[in-house]
Amino acid sequence: MFDDITIARKGAAQVLVLAHFKGEPLDRKSASLDASGAALAASKRTEATGEAGVVVEAFPGKSYERVFVVGLGDKTKLDAGTFRAVAAGIGRKMAAVKASTLRVDIAAPLAQTKVDAFAAGSAFGEGMGLLSWVCDVFRGKATTDPKRTKLAMQFADAEFETGVDRGLGLAESTNFARTLSQSPPNVATPDFMADQATKLARKTGMKCTVFRDDALVREKCEGLINVGKASENKPCLIRVEYTPKGGGKGKPVVLIGKTVTYDTGGLSLKINNGMVGMKRDKDGGCAVLGAMHAIATVIKPNKRVIAYLTAAENSLSDEAYRPDDVLTYRNGVTVEVTNTDAEGRLVLADALCYTCEKDNPACIIDLATLTGGVVVALGSTYAGMFCEDDKLRAQVEAAATISGERVWRLPMHTEYREMMKSPVADIINSNPNRKAHPIQGAAFLSYFVKENIPWCHLDIAGVHAVEKNAGMFIDGPTGWGVRLLAEMLDA
Ligand code: BES
Ligand code: MN
Ligand code: ZN
Repeated sequence: MFDDITIARKGAAQVLVLAHFKGEPLDRKSASLDASGAALAASKRTEATGEAGVVVEAFPGKSYERVFVVGLGDKTKLDAGTFRAVAAGIGRKMAAVKASTLRVDIAAPLAQTKVDAFAAGSAFGEGMGLLSWVCDVFRGKATTDPKRTKLAMQFADAEFETGVDRGLGLAESTNFARTLSQSPPNVATPDFMADQATKLARKTGMKCTVFRDDALVREKCEGLINVGKASENKPCLIRVEYTPKGGGKGKPVVLIGKTVTYDTGGLSLKINNGMVGMKRDKDGGCAVLGAMHAIATVIKPNKRVIAYLTAAENSLSDEAYRPDDVLTYRNGVTVEVTNTDAEGRLVLADALCYTCEKDNPACIIDLATLTGGVVVALGSTYAGMFCEDDKLRAQVEAAATISGERVWRLPMHTEYREMMKSPVADIINSNPNRKAHPIQGAAFLSYFVKENIPWCHLDIAGVHAVEKNAGMFIDGPTGWGVRLLAEMLDA
């Protein structure tokens, strides 16, 4: 939406932004910032509903070209989501009227609440930054370059402004993940993802290791080797490590992302339109890499964070792995393949085994577009969460509340683990009884996590992309999880 967003300290602004609560006109202090009275009058118009992000426009005649009066919603329900919606409403309006400089003065209404100005600013920055995501590298000569303005923002409140700076940083990390998600499968191959990780690590002082070919064999990455076998784009395991200055305290936090660069289903081929959009089957990995971007550039936690991207293309050829194959994992567990379209869990299992053995993790969080079933169950409103560790679950839930990336706990009973038993090997990768698919996925993964290590699996198949152009998102990838993981590591 914008070419570039900056925080300005001085200079004239075209637009003044004031805010009011639902059911109330502008407060007196806010109204006094527009001597003409136009803003106060606008806040009393019927279309000034005061819903979060709803903007009405006033023309004061002098000092500013326009005043935007934006709704903050219910005074008692103000939260971070309010400020993302406010930013999106204002940003969309700025773009619509082709204005490029604004001054936000909402200190007076905020003073009536208990809201933290820094946190509010951060959410505002996120909203504005996310709204501004564009990805036109794949447009060609038949598209004329859209004209976009730059956006310079001033803030009356210094603490709010500091927050905005953080939020813009988190949005940049999220937008990095979204651009990766958007990249088509003929470009965004496993090697491409490894390249992106290597470049990011080099730029931000992290360490990146890529396991390919012999290294995959040596490290017994059975899942990646088999799922990736049929494609000319060879699989790899990408490891990125953030170490704070001084080495950091305690055990590392481990993040794992399913990075299937294209999911045809393999020999258990996807039918009808089930394949379209499967370039986004790498979005767990994109989010994890985006989170590492945020960790290295914005959060800088005082503990180590290790990321794994399990990158493979699930294709088909005469060399493809097949239903009935038996795979033997690094931790000794054998898997009978019943369905080559349940490939995500097969590649994630490699990273889970490896990290449990090598990294002594404080906890593991994996993100994966794992099942269509979670989309049926929870839609695009919540990610499915599986976490049997109370402390880790509380941390993830707290981060979800801050980031607005909602999680809903699903159950993990031993009966589901029983359901994954194989008549031939230890376990099957999918039970054809079609029951509880998202839980089957989590139950499968649990066989690869050492028992005493806190672990959280997030099935993001429903939330990694949206179909609507609304709020701070346009239709396409959301970068779901980048901000949640960043907030978790900031706590
Ligand atoms: N990548 C898909 C899951 C998916 C579906 C992601 C829709 C995003 C949107 C996954 O690899 C898959 O194919 N899952 C199967 C599992 C089944 C074969 C056990 C599914 O959900 O149908
Ligand atoms: Mn699949
Ligand atoms: Zn998949």
